[in-house]
Amino acid sequence: MANHSKFPNLGISIFSAMSALAQQYGAINLAQGFPGFEVSEQLVDLVGTYMRKGVNQYSPMEGVLRLREVISQKQKNLYGISYDVATEVTISAGATEAVFAAISAFVHEGDEVICFEPVFDIYPPAIDFNKGKLIRIKLETPHFHYDWDKVAALVNPKTKLIILNTPHNPTGKILTAIDIEKLVAIVKNTSIVVISDEVYEHMVFDGKSHLSLASHPQLYDRTVVIASLGKVFHCTGWRIGYCLAPKYLTAEIRKVHQFVTFSANTPIQYAMADFLEQQENYLSLSKFFQQKRDFFIAQMSGSAFKFLPTDGSYFLLADYSAISQMSDLEFVKWITQKHAVAAIPVSVFNADGQDDKLIRFCFAKKEQELAEAAKRLCVI
Ligand SMILES: Cc1ncc(COP(=O)(O)O)c(C=O)c1O
Repeated sequence: MANHSKFPNLGISIFSAMSALAQQYGAINLAQGFPGFEVSEQLVDLVGTYMRKGVNQYSPMEGVLRLREVISQKQKNLYGISYDVATEVTISAGATEAVFAAISAFVHEGDEVICFEPVFDIYPPAIDFNKGKLIRIKLETPHFHYDWDKVAALVNPKTKLIILNTPHNPTGKILTAIDIEKLVAIVKNTSIVVISDEVYEHMVFDGKSHLSLASHPQLYDRTVVIASLGKVFHCTGWRIGYCLAPKYLTAEIRKVHQFVTFSANTPIQYAMADFLEQQENYLSLSKFFQQKRDFFIAQMSGSAFKFLPTDGSYFLLADYSAISQMSDLEFVKWITQKHAVAAIPVSVFNADGQDDKLIRFCFAKKEQELAEAAKRLCVI
């Protein structure tokens, strides 16, 4: 029987491909965005404790109540937003599942969805699966600023969603209060829903602040905030994220969530509720990651790479045009094979493959590993 793929253009992601290449060549993996250090012993012990207590069966579809309560309290304390625990907070299997559920809940065939390029790779396939039309708007190099006039010009009655990501992967750019006001002016008097991917909310540097889009009174009612406890607690493999949205949006998102995963991992949700109650477990992260960023940049001071500023996330973009004129894809393969350090080519985040000779490094690694990677890169 002929095998007609439903998604002939989808292959494995660049993150999986570069991680596999890194493993093949014994390279330091600064490509995929996962922390290279241990999860807190306290959190691991809490998971064991809850497993032994016997909370090992399905959690409620919307998530463990205590975790939803702690998250709701956190949003109130940090951003002054009140989310109803019963109807507006949903625990998902990582932010990835929440993004898929939110896009699937709202996009009908032919609906338009605005995303900003470079665009994180999980949004376009989810739009495609739902037969939506992806409208890409480039963040302008070299500073990756948002061109709101372009956004206003592209909005039309078919625009269903605008997807934003702050801090932004891969550029590290954060949305400012001015950006948010411009967004408000564009969406008012429309029924556009905003999806705000805020998985790096606790990694913001140089005294800057994360602005949750839902904290703007004119956005709250139309905004879905998505977060990741895997990113916050250095355990991306545990697959816990969450989604915050007004009741009428949450009801639709849960319709998808209940048939994709039904519920997230139960003992881990209990453990994370306890751990998330201690604010320092997330409020300390900006300082922690800023030190890593600064350490890596200092170690690389002798290299010919030129770093672009990063306001948040755990990524840094580096311009390698002083070293080589290879395409970014060839360049990352070459440094992985010849210099044993893996990175991500930024052109893969652009639909047209625009290649600005930029590569992305993940600096969420132990200092020893960052120092060794820098040593190998400085000789190029
Ligand atoms: C911008 C962004 N959103 C979502 C995710 C997915 O997060 P999770 O691991 O919780 O599914 C990532 C992971 O790299 C990310 O960078």
